[in-house]
Amino acid sequence: MTTLIIGGTTGIGRALASALLAEGSPVIAASRDPRELPGARLESFDVTSADSVRSMFDRIGTVSHIVTTAVRVDGAYAPVAAVTPDDVERAFGPKVLGPLLLARYAPPGLESMTITGGFNARRPAPGGSVIAAANGAIEALVRALAIELAPVRVNCLSPGWVDTDIWDSLAGDARGERLDAMGARLPVGRVASASDLAPAYLTLMRNPHITGTTLFADGGQRLV
Ligand SMILES: NC(=O)c1ccc[n+]([C@@H]2O[C@H](COP(=O)([O-])OP(=O)(O)OC[C@H]3O[C@@H](n4cnc5c(N)ncnc54)[C@H](OP(=O)(O)O)[C@@H]3O)[C@@H](O)[C@H]2O)c1
Repeated sequence: MTTLIIGGTTGIGRALASALLAEGSPVIAASRDPRELPGARLESFDVTSADSVRSMFDRIGTVSHIVTTAVRVDGAYAPVAAVTPDDVERAFGPKVLGPLLLARYAPPGLESMTITGGFNARRPAPGGSVIAAANGAIEALVRALAIELAPVRVNCLSPGWVDTDIWDSLAGDARGERLDAMGARLPVGRVASASDLAPAYLTLMRNPHITGTTLFADGGQRLV
């Protein structure tokens, strides 16, 4: 029951990988430049390149579950007046093209695929149109893939704010202060830790009757 986690050595993906490894489940953590993760097999590849995806699957063979948390946020948050075509391609590559390539080249034997979206598909803010569009595309994509790849189950996990290193690039030194202030606005009173999300991914991976859906693990962020 091997799980391939794209983005599995950082942030949300790493927390899921650690939860799986702790219960003795094999993990392959893959990204462009994976960090060390004791117990996991590491693979370097680029999810936005068809050749790279194909040769990664040639190396690893069959997996039971694929989870992708891949994202690039550089250039993804900007007012529409400043958005460039490159910004759009950079944001849609890991989030939308990548999952399509994974679906295209995954060998038979797959049970589930879980793609990570984000709350801003439903609760957008100014300056977030590009990433909101990519996350919205994921919600549509999982419905389409759930039909086309059936009986493989395909779902979207949509987080709200999560305290990961992504906030170093989004907030810099103000990371702690920003996350505290954002957490205070949520019904649950705090932003998520990466490990809060692991059980939600495990539900999507393992529940035999969930497919083509988006699970919001956002602390109620869509509501406020
Ligand atoms: N943190 C939040 O507040 C938050 C909120 C809403 C939604 N989300 C979503 O949750 C997911 C995970 O976020 P996170 O905070 O855990 O971010 P993160 O730690 O930056 O994880 C992103 C991962 O994507 C990998 N990646 C990027 N481009 C890739 C490519 N071309 N091919 C393969 N791997 C690639 C990165 O590894 P390499 O650099 O080694 O390639 C990295 O491991 C993202 O989809 C994000 O949009 C996060």
